[in-house]
Amino acid sequence: MSSFWMPFTNNRDFKRDPRLLVSAEGMYYRDVDGNQVLDGAAGLWCVPCGHGQPKIAAAIAQMAGQLDFAPTFQMGHPAAFELAERLIDFSGGRFSHVFYTNSGSEAVDTALKIALAYHRLRGEGGRTRLIGRERGYHGVGFGGLSVGGIGANRKAFGPLLPGVDHLRHTHDPERNAFARGEPEHGAELADDLERMLLLHDPSTIAAVIVEPVAGSTGVLIPPKGYLARLRAICDRHGILLIFDEVITGFGRLTTPFAGDWFGVEPDMMTTAKGITNGAVPMGAVFSKGFIHDAFMDAPPGIELFHGYTYSGHPLACAAALATLDVFAEQGVLANAAAIQPYFEEALQSLRGLPHVIDLRSLGIIAGIELAPIPGQPGARGYAALKAAFADGLLIRTTGDIIALSPPLVMERQHVDELFGKLADVLKRLA
Ligand SMILES: Cc1ncc(COP(=O)(O)O)c(C=O)c1O
Repeated sequence: MSSFWMPFTNNRDFKRDPRLLVSAEGMYYRDVDGNQVLDGAAGLWCVPCGHGQPKIAAAIAQMAGQLDFAPTFQMGHPAAFELAERLIDFSGGRFSHVFYTNSGSEAVDTALKIALAYHRLRGEGGRTRLIGRERGYHGVGFGGLSVGGIGANRKAFGPLLPGVDHLRHTHDPERNAFARGEPEHGAELADDLERMLLLHDPSTIAAVIVEPVAGSTGVLIPPKGYLARLRAICDRHGILLIFDEVITGFGRLTTPFAGDWFGVEPDMMTTAKGITNGAVPMGAVFSKGFIHDAFMDAPPGIELFHGYTYSGHPLACAAALATLDVFAEQGVLANAAAIQPYFEEALQSLRGLPHVIDLRSLGIIAGIELAPIPGQPGARGYAALKAAFADGLLIRTTGDIIALSPPLVMERQHVDELFGKLADVLKRLA
């Protein structure tokens, strides 16, 4: 097993006692020993429609036979254009253009670059600063890492991008522990942006990027009114607002995107993961028309010197088109909305179990924060992940926080199994 240098993994520990998945269907994986494993994490937040959707598999196979690859630099293929239109429809027409990438990290770096280039085109090239947020996760490219706010991800990699600042995070367990849905306290944390405006001057700031609900840092739900307040400050000062919807996009909050749920519109939105139901790597930046227009008003020639060999790869486009069909044909969002109250109630059943110091959820995302073992942060969370897997349950942990994000097609029996198994694990944890 040694040749595969695994990402974000304790390689040495894993290889002593591997967890190998060999097939998947619906709500379940099957491991190498033939055991069923309930997918409490939609893989890595990326399989909203459940595993093994036949329509998606068939679309990929068909495209692989028809058009294995086509460049999208000065060339094109029909599925890429059709998909862009369908994605705009899925966004309810809130955006007008889509730029393809292969991952969330690339989508983030792309959006940051578009923001910088947009201001420059309009004669505001002094707007070079990017604002992220503490505890934010925006992937692992140097751009996303720079605006990201997770210390462990950053510390080994030098000074990162210059001219980046971070808003305070919104996690406030003292005031908001066990809040149901959006926490009451903390909208004023958006005013931290005003502090940065005083320090740097608005004329130097290109964009603010935040996750509407921070996922990878352990499910941080924005306080009531926080995102609208951030939007208002950006509007007052000509700053672009980017929502990183890599996790929240494609139905996680029971609406197409989190912006829909919160009623707050960003200027750009980064997506990936669920866009192909996880079946082929793909990301996409959604942009408002006024940003795209600024590029099209430039002198003739290539408007944006940016892109990836695999931007709009035919297999990814085929998978994404089929995913949108599945969303519509199987009523995936409606199912998510219908099961959401049951999911939220089941989460509350963990209250009072050992080590549980907070429960939080929005849409089909739940966070269970455990008290750390003194002097060993993250050890209890990792033990929970291993114990859950041994019991046939896949969960995601960040430090001592368990994040749940099962496929949106789950039914009540899956919710019961998920929280039943998790309760057993928590009762046994040291
Ligand atoms: C909000 C957010 N942005 C970006 C990324 C990076 O996506 P990828 O791993 O596809 O590069 C992630 C991944 O979890 C994410 O949650």
